[in-house]
Amino acid sequence: MSTKFSSALVERLSPYVPGEQRDGDNIVKLNTNENPYPPSPQVLRAIATVDGHALRRYPDPESLTLRKSLAEYHQLEVDEVFVGNGSDEILALAFMAFFTRKPSGAAALQFPELSYSFYPVYCDLLNIKSQMLPLNSDFSINMNAFDNNGGGIVFPNPNAPTSLAESAESIEALLKRVPDTLVLIDEAYVDFGAQSMVGFINQYPNLVVTQTFSKSRSLAGMRLGVAYANSSLIEAFSKVKNSFNSYPVDALAQQAGIASIQDQDYYLQTMEKIIATRNKTTDELKLRGFRVLDSAANFLFASPTKHNAAALFNYLNENNVLVRYWQSDLLKHWLRISIGTEEDMQLMLALIDEADEAAFV
Ligand SMILES: Cc1ncc(COP(=O)(O)O)c(C=O)c1O
Repeated sequence: MSTKFSSALVERLSPYVPGEQRDGDNIVKLNTNENPYPPSPQVLRAIATVDGHALRRYPDPESLTLRKSLAEYHQLEVDEVFVGNGSDEILALAFMAFFTRKPSGAAALQFPELSYSFYPVYCDLLNIKSQMLPLNSDFSINMNAFDNNGGGIVFPNPNAPTSLAESAESIEALLKRVPDTLVLIDEAYVDFGAQSMVGFINQYPNLVVTQTFSKSRSLAGMRLGVAYANSSLIEAFSKVKNSFNSYPVDALAQQAGIASIQDQDYYLQTMEKIIATRNKTTDELKLRGFRVLDSAANFLFASPTKHNAAALFNYLNENNVLVRYWQSDLLKHWLRISIGTEEDMQLMLALIDEADEAAFV
């Protein structure tokens, strides 16, 4: 609903709709690709021991210590790293910095027809012309469809919601083929099984890579995202950030991020557990007649054959197992299922077995 005071911009917007955040002890939440395990105990200690004066004062606007630890982790320079309030904010700043129209051009920002549904929302907000490109019939991204139009290219790797990863070779081939076009690779899920392009930022001046602490590092509630690119592209990020909000990363998030990077063992153990559960759940769903794409992420893109996807979504939902379902033509036969703990997935599979027995649809 709008009021007579709403701007023309507000009238035009159709915002992003995140997955439901339902509270309750017996909810199995497999609908927002959160990590089912808490962050490293070192992260919790770092947050608990933050000095009161660190909260009284504004945080370091440049998040220098956090950026230094990320730079060291990836063997980069600190001016090749930028941090923000979740990768959603990083993406918004990137869209402002690189994809809003230059007076000279009218080229469109290109992204796959099925990909992160925030991209069209940013385009709408920022008045960016966009072009959505169909996927291949196996749901992989059609890399040949992108062209060197100068308007920009963005896609997640692994892609969401399909869960499929593109190889570093195919992304490198694209980067070479479109030297006049900025390519933003959204690596929100990269740690679960895709090859990162962070190591390529100095080879390709048209490459920006974004990552997040929300998924593999269990810090969705903290809001911490990162961009990696050559220093002149990072400067563009800073310029936009400092024209919008000088302090997007609070003092707690800066400490949490540093502690998370330091506990590599915990991170590796968590990844191993989630990947094992993902592979097991894929097999179990296939045994139950689902078509499941080969996931490189912490979620599955799965299509039931014995049931109608919408009915199964509703049935799981009524039984407190939340997964994601979209009604659009391209997605209406599919569910996106985040990987939870072993017990979460067993519970979901048991419910599906009950549905099979009852043949409810
Ligand atoms: C593809 C993709 N990119 C970016 C994000 C944003 O993550 P965050 O803002 O939590 O860093 C998400 C969140 O689900 C995502 O799916």
